Amino acid sequence: MKTILCIGAGYVGGPTMAVIAKQCPDCRVVVVDINAERISQWQSETLPIYEPGLTEIVHDVVNKNLFFSTEIGENIEKADIIFVSVNTPTKTFGEGAGRAADLQYWEKTARQILTHSKSDKIVVEKSTLPVRTAQAMERILNNGGNGVHFEVLSNPEFLAEGTAIRDLLHPDRILIGGHDTETGRNAVQSLVDIYAHWIPRERILTTNLWSSELSKLVANAFLAQRISSINSVSAICEATEADVTEVSAAIGSDSRIGNKFIHASVGFGGSCFQKDILNLVYLCEHYGLTEIADYWHQVVLMNHYQKRRFVNRMIKTMFNTVVDKRIAIFGFAFKANTGDTRESPAIAICKQLLEERAHLIVSDPKAIDNARRELGDVADGTVDYEVDPYVAAADAHAIAIVTEWQQYQSLDYERIYKAMVKPAFIFDGRNILDHKALHAIGFNVYPLGKPELAHL
Ligand code: UDX
Ligand code: UDX
Repeated sequence: MKTILCIGAGYVGGPTMAVIAKQCPDCRVVVVDINAERISQWQSETLPIYEPGLTEIVHDVVNKNLFFSTEIGENIEKADIIFVSVNTPTKTFGEGAGRAADLQYWEKTARQILTHSKSDKIVVEKSTLPVRTAQAMERILNNGGNGVHFEVLSNPEFLAEGTAIRDLLHPDRILIGGHDTETGRNAVQSLVDIYAHWIPRERILTTNLWSSELSKLVANAFLAQRISSINSVSAICEATEADVTEVSAAIGSDSRIGNKFIHASVGFGGSCFQKDILNLVYLCEHYGLTEIADYWHQVVLMNHYQKRRFVNRMIKTMFNTVVDKRIAIFGFAFKANTGDTRESPAIAICKQLLEERAHLIVSDPKAIDNARRELGDVADGTVDYEVDPYVAAADAHAIAIVTEWQQYQSLDYERIYKAMVKPAFIFDGRNILDHKALHAIGFNVYPLGKPELAHL
């Protein structure tokens, strides 16, 4: 029986290993983490992350062939394949601060692997890393003088939060990068064999290591670029009375462009897009490719602009001041179906509104605790947190839709309107509401990238 270890029980490591354990009953899968609280949550009824379908899968396999543990050394020793899924945030200090990836956890993990290995191992990069990290990894691992051979593979994750289980069960492709040497090819084959338990062989792509590492950064950069492109168009629409949804549908029906990832929004969020583009920008700068660095950096700048633009429109619309006005923020998660708030556009939007001295009532079905943590340092009594959207909107001057939670579409807006201060405003940053119906109720409606529907 093969023993698979994953170091890092986060949004990626946890769901990925649960699915591998479920699909490979002939493997023993262990997930370790330095965070003991996280590990005990994985073993409890309430998992540390919210992800549709995850609880059922974990429940099926936990303590059968899926185990969670804080015992890192002993589990490294027993493992054949070690996935590394620790976090690699943007560096906040020193050289490359604000752009480069902070590899300290990754390197510490490599040294732990080296210390505790007595037999040959395959080490799989699951975390998103700068291109050529595998080389650094091999240098650390294979210079330990302990006679153990380490083969490093890159196997980037393409799952999106909120659909992680579906993405893991039915991926468009699995990417595995390895060296074109005998030991490299054997290691790649071992990993292919695991995924082949449930994924058609033609969907498992094998490449050289650097292509695999680079493809992850580029995939996210391309996806984010599409959002920034359509968000830039939303600004043109607001200036010209074109409608961004119509423009999206018109261009998206061209099969060369396609209709995915061109929904205008308050900006993209999540732990990956910004981090990975900045990582790509840093890589370009490192190789002296200044123009290319600038090109990709613009995708991030556009995203910051979109958030600011949304708030500026709110302020301008509400008679150029929001001081002491109560504004209900509907949705704080970076997208629907997750409680994750990392890099959520809601953070920048709320902070800017607080600078303008608004009073915020933040509502979200899954992300209230994370919201409290994100705004902790700026809040000082001007933010309330309220799961119930009806309570959040009572006595408010405006509602801002920031996350596209489906439940916001089916609220009783007559009831909400009655309880609000007049004139009542709705700013739909995700274009999910029925704007005409809201206007008929009496709201002044400001969709994103579309003409306003106002009574003023
Ligand atoms: C991961 C990758 O780290 C990131 O590079 C990729 O782009 C997306 O997937 P994620 O799973 O979302 O990120 O991160 P997080 O939820 O923070 O999980 C990382 C886990 O690793 C944490 O639970 C942390 O405690 C653990 N960890 C960190 C270790 O076990 N050891 C360490 O040395 C550092
Ligand atoms: C992303 C990638 O999709 C995934 O393949 C990779 O492994 C990790 O990064 P994730 O961050 O979980 O996944 O979310 P994603 O669904 O890509 O959404 C990112 C952000 O873009 C969200 O804030 C979302 O609301 C926003 N978005 C998405 C838009 O604003 N418009 C769109 O058309 C699509």
